[in-house]
Amino acid sequence: MNGEQVIALTNEHIMPTYARFPVAIERGSGSTLWDFGGKKYIDFASGIGVNSVGCGNEKWLAAVSGQAGRLQHVSNLFYTEPAARLAAELTARSGLKKAFFCNSGAEANEGAIKLARKYSFDKYGKGRSAIVTLNQSFHGRTITTLAATGQDVFHNYFFPFTEGFKYTPANDKAALDAALSPDVCALMLEPVQGEGGVLPLDADFIAEAGRLCRERDILLIADEVQTGTGRTGTLFCFQRYGVLPDVCTFAKGIAGGLPFGGMLAGEKCADTLSAGTHASTFGGNPVCAAAALAVLDILSPSELGEVRAKGEYIRAKIEDMELPAVGGVRGLGLMIGVAVKAPHKELCAMLIENGLLSLTAGSDALRFLPPLTISYAEIDEGLEIFRETLSGIRL
Ligand SMILES: Cc1ncc(COP(=O)(O)O)c(C=O)c1O
Repeated sequence: MNGEQVIALTNEHIMPTYARFPVAIERGSGSTLWDFGGKKYIDFASGIGVNSVGCGNEKWLAAVSGQAGRLQHVSNLFYTEPAARLAAELTARSGLKKAFFCNSGAEANEGAIKLARKYSFDKYGKGRSAIVTLNQSFHGRTITTLAATGQDVFHNYFFPFTEGFKYTPANDKAALDAALSPDVCALMLEPVQGEGGVLPLDADFIAEAGRLCRERDILLIADEVQTGTGRTGTLFCFQRYGVLPDVCTFAKGIAGGLPFGGMLAGEKCADTLSAGTHASTFGGNPVCAAAALAVLDILSPSELGEVRAKGEYIRAKIEDMELPAVGGVRGLGLMIGVAVKAPHKELCAMLIENGLLSLTAGSDALRFLPPLTISYAEIDEGLEIFRETLSGIRL
């Protein structure tokens, strides 16, 4: 097939839930992709923060193909080695106690919400089931995680949404104190709000959230679906803030491009979800777990240091360009938001047309989530496309 045929067949047979760009990607190597016509793109998106080790990484490929040849699936009624080793590795590197595995970010957050409600029910009975989330947050697309998402634009069409969610402004400690009332069992937050605009939370707000939750026996859930797996330069972003959550959810980059998600729970709630209370047919799939083990192996402490260095390099280079269309650069590690003064979706389309895959976030930002292993040569090539494209913008 050629690219036009792929696009036509897609539009005819796949539901129109995505505003797709008119590009069909055929293959990739490292952080460079090619479409069906052979046009090259530098990848500053990695899916949406998924291809954490780029395309064709040898360690990842060997792990996936080796496990696929040995055993691709067995139900969770039996034990498998990749899932066991992965849970041991994640708990050792996070400081949390036990893992539950599923397939996506929304499913991981659903699991965390169930865990929090059961923890509270087991200990305090009914009437303490509310979950507090932040304005501008994003937690997923299921009915419950849409309800958890603190943006009115998502609370549409699909009524009735799951009850029991309350929203409070990010970085407002007094409002948080008031929101964490006696009917609340959990506070869920993204350490850097991703879809909301690449907005890092203040360190003292996170510290206060940790203190209030501990004091009131409210579970602190870190939604690290986007910030986790090394994206911000530590394995989990909460490690940059020095606050240990009770539950941490992850997905996206964990298996380097295969569908995988999960949550980690700390000491006091590690055994809350007992047999029969939660499950996922594919959760902990051996091929995906083997892929995740390879990703974690690649994301050594020194590689995570590189993520921080590359993030700083990109931010400094963009600031040095002094482009009139750029209002500022924000983010942590390789989770980068560039505030722009022209419509961000149109700029993103122009960047793609010029050979740089980019994303948008919030109302004003271009968002870069490149593979964590991107080379400096690819970064420079991508930034040159960015500079050329944005320097042509007249405000
Ligand atoms: C912070 C956060 N939570 C949850 C999700 C939902 O993840 P998924 O699309 O894998 O269900 C996303 C996806 O963008 C996210 O950024």
